[in-house]
Amino acid sequence: MKVAIAKGRIEKAARAYFQEKGLPVWPEKRGRELTVTVDDNEFIFVKGDDVYKYVMHGAADVGVVGGDILREKTPGVLEVVDLPFGRCRMSVCGPKVRRNGTKKLKVASKYPNVAISHFASKRQNVEVIALNGSVELAPLTGLADCIVDIVETGATLEANDLEEYETIFSINAKFITSEAALANRPDELKSWIRMLSEEEDE
Ligand code: PRP
Repeated sequence: MKVAIAKGRIEKAARAYFQEKGLPVWPEKRGRELTVTVDDNEFIFVKGDDVYKYVMHGAADVGVVGGDILREKTPGVLEVVDLPFGRCRMSVCGPKVRRNGTKKLKVASKYPNVAISHFASKRQNVEVIALNGSVELAPLTGLADCIVDIVETGATLEANDLEEYETIFSINAKFITSEAALANRPDELKSWIRMLSEEEDE
């Protein structure tokens, strides 16, 4: 099986979860190698944003990725297991003293599609500024009035004197695959899905 894993926080949690469920895992310290082969499985480590691309194009059979990225990109992959890690939420956040007035709201985000559809659903006309990171800087510098971003512990908001205005949706990691992989490796994939989905005995 070829398995694409989002590097970083998800990778660490995924390794622990795969191990707990009796699935093959990659070594904890893997150095700078971007692929690791364990038995018949090849683990591929990529940026979170790229996991679904490997699965979509058939370079990986399955992947582990944050649900935030799938909500933003809505790629044609199958979300087959909800994983119990990577938990956080997508929220509208901004300065503790909120801006008043009638001027069009400026919203900075790494998730422009999520931001656009959220404000559209509230019939609120906003300008969305797409950024690549450190989004919390936007309201601090006057680039935007508020942000749409992930909140996990809330520490980044706190450290920058910002607060959460509204939660849009909650997030967890997802195990994804494609129609093609399901057709090519039905038995192996079904067994992985079953193992990943099994509830713990009380
Ligand atoms: C994410 C997110 C927030 C922060 C939230 O950023 O965009 O900034 O984590 O986590 P917290 O609530 O636990 O503080 P990330 O660390 O991925 O870096 P980035 O801003 O450069 O994308």
